[in-house]
Amino acid sequence: MAARLSASPLISYAALIPLLSCRAATVRYPFPFSGRSLLSFSSKTLTVARDATAMDVSARARRGFASQVDDFASPDDLCFEAPLKIVEYPDPILRARNKRINTFDENLKKLAKEMFDVMYKTDGIGLSAPQVGVNVQLMVFNPAGERGEGEEIVLVNPKVYKASTRTLFFNEGCLSFPGIYADVERPASIKIDARNITGARFRVTLSGLPARIFQHEFDHLQGILFFDRMTEDILESIRSELKALEQKYESRTGLPSPESIGKYERTQRRNEIAGFAGR
Ligand code: CO
Repeated sequence: MAARLSASPLISYAALIPLLSCRAATVRYPFPFSGRSLLSFSSKTLTVARDATAMDVSARARRGFASQVDDFASPDDLCFEAPLKIVEYPDPILRARNKRINTFDENLKKLAKEMFDVMYKTDGIGLSAPQVGVNVQLMVFNPAGERGEGEEIVLVNPKVYKASTRTLFFNEGCLSFPGIYADVERPASIKIDARNITGARFRVTLSGLPARIFQHEFDHLQGILFFDRMTEDILESIRSELKALEQKYESRTGLPSPESIGKYERTQRRNEIAGFAGR
């Protein structure tokens, strides 16, 4: 999600040398796990987690559920090249399925760090992994939008289990739609369930700006973009800007735009995403 702040000085950082990161050593945690015991992270806890994984995988294999492992992101799915680049609408990466994560390793931490780097650099307050070309269930945000201020939040495999019936309109931007801002209606508060960067599962209630950012990024993880939720009138106010992005994509790639802001497609999509998660 883009902050509507005037351009702050870009933070210069040393990530100018491209870095391919994907084949780091992996530690797989069981999924789902029973919770509590992993909330502290002593080396002893990690050892327990590894043992539990081994049992979990072999038990699954015996029961014939081994194919479910394919639902999770593989190390290849988590490959990225730093510095990250923002994927813009209408790139089909933004509509692709995002796999769940069950490997909480150094590579994942590096990816989250790189996402914060590009988010601050582009004046964002939230960013989802598909927006940097990595189709996995990961988002980062910091409502303060400045490194060293506010709180950096990393959420893995988030789920909304309750949303308030009260909704609010709020002027949103999106780093995948540079310079485009418009009102989007969303629930005022939500209860979510997620894992943090170390794999610990937690539940939290969000309201205010954090609830807004979370829901925008959560939509990205379902392949939903902010204009999908705009009313027809509001959409009309940015239609020409969306068209311009489609044309930019076509001239850059030489391919036809994979989607267009035509009325028919949008009606279809709005019907598909009708309602809010967790209601
Ligand atoms: Co966005």
